[in-house]
Amino acid sequence: MIEKNRPLGALVLGVVSLSLLMSSASVEPPEPGSAPKWYIGSKACRECHEAHWEGWQNTLHARMEQEPIGQGPARNVLGDFSSGNPDLTFSLDDVDMLVGSRFKQRYAKRIGDEFYMLPAQWKVASGKWAKYLPRKDWWARGGIYPPEWNRRPYSKLCQGCHTTGYDLKKKVPAERNITCEACHGPGSLHVEESTREDIVNPARLDNRFGNMVCFQCHMSGRPPPGPFEKYAWPVGYVAGGDLTEHWMYAKPTGADSYEMWADGYAHKNRVQGNTFIRSKMYGKGVRCTTCHDSHGSRYTSLTIKATETNALCLTCHGEGSPQSVLQAGLSGHTHHKRESTGSRCVECHMPRTGKNAEKWDARDHSFSFVSPSDTIRHGVPNGCNNCHEDREPGWAQAEVEKWESP
Ligand code: HEC
Ligand code: HEC
Ligand code: HEC
Ligand code: HEC
Ligand code: HEC
Ligand code: HEC
Ligand code: HEC
Ligand code: HEC
Repeated sequence: MIEKNRPLGALVLGVVSLSLLMSSASVEPPEPGSAPKWYIGSKACRECHEAHWEGWQNTLHARMEQEPIGQGPARNVLGDFSSGNPDLTFSLDDVDMLVGSRFKQRYAKRIGDEFYMLPAQWKVASGKWAKYLPRKDWWARGGIYPPEWNRRPYSKLCQGCHTTGYDLKKKVPAERNITCEACHGPGSLHVEESTREDIVNPARLDNRFGNMVCFQCHMSGRPPPGPFEKYAWPVGYVAGGDLTEHWMYAKPTGADSYEMWADGYAHKNRVQGNTFIRSKMYGKGVRCTTCHDSHGSRYTSLTIKATETNALCLTCHGEGSPQSVLQAGLSGHTHHKRESTGSRCVECHMPRTGKNAEKWDARDHSFSFVSPSDTIRHGVPNGCNNCHEDREPGWAQAEVEKWESP
């Protein structure tokens, strides 16, 4: 019953769970996976997986939703509420919850048993207020929710992707934020029995289902017609399940759309799934988690290796690999000096084409090359001119053509 490798805390818990099991000893032990499981919270996981907990605690997943603290060293309110900006039509006293902290911060007010997003947001990089009144999401465009901020319930439009195990009946999440069980499924049984069979490990799912664990929140789309069609998140999906039963993925339409540019490049944030699924790498079994470590990392955006030095990409595209791009050296491929920022893989192959808080600050995840000719055709930002701002796309296109015909 008690595994050898468990830390001391686990042993204590093991005894507790033994007695729990014995109290229900009259029933047959359930088949693995068939017993009812419920959300138990990340504190319970910490008991046995301290390192995972510590790492995760330092990710933004762990602090998407925060109680506002306006003063002191723990201050987490980023917006300047004394600015007198005309877009700011509410005060800090109205704010019951903060949403986000990296690109932008939004502010929620509680009315009855529901949260509503107040109508201004703080843009972190530029330190400015802007109006927040969504018009382009399918539920705003289609008139499914009225324009007034206090008639757009946060639980239906946002909360499923910012919390874990949202309970539609009780109108509360099992736990705030993106916690262990958002990616590993409900853990009550595993906390009792601690076997592999009673918890979801995305690494053991096949490529398609493994990526769905991230797609549940990082894939723009809408629910299929049915009882949950007015929710903007995939109600009913649990890690390990088939997301397509709960969610219709937004696809490129051939024209510019809210989510994607005409060629399918990212036009906004949280379309990593929509864009990645079209890439050659997805087809070859690369996953979100090949590059991102959910349990923390010292690099920007939780990448497993540094982006600035190209270490992440050269894991597979370096010398000796069938995918190597270094046959003629780094400069041979990039046409920039080795140490130039123009030799960084991500600047050309994951250019900032989408809007998070500003134009353009969200990286594309289709891992192709946004050609300057695409910019000429329909305005998508390309990597070249993101750096060479003083030049026209036509100049960049001509340079690329020179590279292609030696
Ligand atoms: C009482 C100790 C204990 C607690 C509490 C616990 N785990 Fe585990 N966990 C283990 C042990 C032991 C293993 C290794 C099991 C094995 O190899 O068969 C494990 C394995 C895992 C694995 C890997 C499974 C695999 O396929 O290799 C995941 C994921 C995991 N735990 C997640 C969680 C989460 C999430 C929680 C909180 C809901 C949690 N654990 C709580 C003891 C615990
Ligand atoms: C389908 C899932 C989903 C829904 C629905 C959703 N979000 Fe998010 N949200 C995300 C993901 C994923 C990110 C991170 C995206 C990225 O970095 O590209 C995010 C990021 C954000 C950020 C930026 C966080 C930061 O630190 O900069 C804010 C603010 C935000 N969401 C607010 C909202 C609000 C308000 C709603 C409802 C009107 C909403 N979201 C609906 C998944 C969702
Ligand atoms: C955003 C999704 C996500 C969150 C949140 C998350 N995990 Fe994981 N976890 C994964 C993935 C994906 C894997 C598979 C390994 C990989 O590919 O990185 C994994 C693997 C594991 C494993 C197996 C050992 C290993 O490292 O491969 C354990 C144990 C584990 N997680 C525990 C936890 C605990 C405890 C928490 C909360 C404190 C947590 N995880 C939060 C996605 C997540
Ligand atoms: C339940 C929804 C949810 C799930 C599941 C989820 N994410 Fe996220 N993710 C978010 C939200 C919301 C944010 C924005 C957090 C913030 O800014 O505070 C985010 C942010 C991120 C970031 C930036 C975080 C940082 O600390 O820099 C990365 C990278 C990321 N997600 C990757 C993943 C990967 C990989 C998976 C799957 C293993 C995954 N996410 C699963 C909702 C989710
Ligand atoms: C785990 C290994 C792995 C890592 C890490 C990796 N790649 Fe790839 N990459 C591949 C494979 C496999 C292919 C597909 C090769 C093929 O089918 O021709 C590929 C293909 C590509 C392509 C060609 C796509 C096309 O449509 O022709 C580009 C561009 C690319 N990768 C860029 C990157 C960048 C940028 C990074 C770092 C952010 C990176 N890769 C990291 C394995 C990897
Ligand atoms: C200055 C821009 C630039 C940089 C930096 C850059 N590439 Fe490329 N890359 C290109 C162009 C242009 C192509 C050809 C695209 C096409 O034909 O559609 C290309 C093609 C590729 C391909 C497709 C296979 C091939 O060799 O033709 C892969 C894989 C690739 N790059 C990976 C990388 C990796 C890994 C890095 C970092 C070490 C990197 N690139 C840095 C511009 C760049
Ligand atoms: C081949 C590697 C690779 C894969 C696969 C990959 N990413 Fe990323 N991702 C990156 C890099 C590199 C960055 C930028 C890091 C930086 O800014 O230094 C990034 C940035 C992000 C960010 C931060 C937002 C932004 O616009 O910069 C999020 C969120 C994210 N990725 C989620 C995902 C999700 C979800 C998947 C799967 C659908 C995924 N990534 C697949 C390499 C990858
Ligand atoms: C991340 C920034 C960055 C990106 C992306 C970038 N460059 Fe550059 N580029 C530079 C810098 C910095 C220099 C200065 C010389 C050096 O470091 O190699 C430069 C120099 C050049 C030069 C020679 C000097 C000149 O201005 O005539 C050309 C030509 C050039 N880049 C073309 C391109 C093209 C075409 C692309 C897209 C395929 C591109 N660059 C992408 C940063 C970038």
